[in-house]
Amino acid sequence: MIEVLKMRRKLVLGNWKMHGAIGTNAQLLQAIRQHLTTSSLPVDVGVCVPAPYLSQTRDLLTGSDMKWGAQDVSAHAKGAFTGEISAAMLAEFGSQYVIVGHSERRAYHGETADAVGAKARQAIVAGLVPVVCVGETLHERDAGMAEQVVRNQLSDVLAFVGSENPAQIVIAYEPVWAIGTGRSASAADAQAIHAALRACLSEHGEAMNQTRILYGGSIKPNNAHELLTCADIDGALIGGASLVASDFISIIDSASRAASASTVSDEVFDAGVKP
Ligand code: 13P
Repeated sequence: MIEVLKMRRKLVLGNWKMHGAIGTNAQLLQAIRQHLTTSSLPVDVGVCVPAPYLSQTRDLLTGSDMKWGAQDVSAHAKGAFTGEISAAMLAEFGSQYVIVGHSERRAYHGETADAVGAKARQAIVAGLVPVVCVGETLHERDAGMAEQVVRNQLSDVLAFVGSENPAQIVIAYEPVWAIGTGRSASAADAQAIHAALRACLSEHGEAMNQTRILYGGSIKPNNAHELLTCADIDGALIGGASLVASDFISIIDSASRAASASTVSDEVFDAGVKP
């Protein structure tokens, strides 16, 4: 009997941010969906859209291999919180993922570590997978604090969500200075931080080795392969390039090639019953 360890399946996730319109959404999603039907995917693919488009996204993607989700969620389950959207509401629209603690929300909306943790917990309670963003500013990197900053951000959120089920959460390393700047982290620098995050996860139990860690920050078709073949980079969280069908598809294809190349080495024999 051969057991294939539940290896970390690569995940390619688009973050549309505050972009989109009913007409262009349909063109974009239909083009990606069409591409994905031509081959069986060795990777997971999803898009995190502005909340008003969840219904449209669900209608366009139901029955496809693509998943969808949102970019933020309330830290509360329900109540008098005008303007907030609960995790249960996102789940009602078929969402699978929700981005939590994106640096734009931490910076522009003052989201604290406690708020990020509470949001991640609400997501899990509603059956969603929170994609928790961590990342250092340029100032922090220049001061040699990058690793410590992201380890602290990760530990803060794990204190809220626990570590019983590693598949319940996805981590996204997004260096703030690389977001929307066209200046991606080098593969070596990204891998170094991912390895540090992996080590931090492992300190919370061996099972957490199965938690996926995505890289985000100026991922484009021309740097996706290099980043996605790094040992501890389990996928991509993509902003600008997720709005261009051909770019997003190209990055999905890079992830698929990287996943196919690593499949054989990730297979292990069940220690108890060797063939
Ligand atoms: P860009 O890919 O546009 O740099 O954005 C990255 C990001 O913030 C994804 O969440």
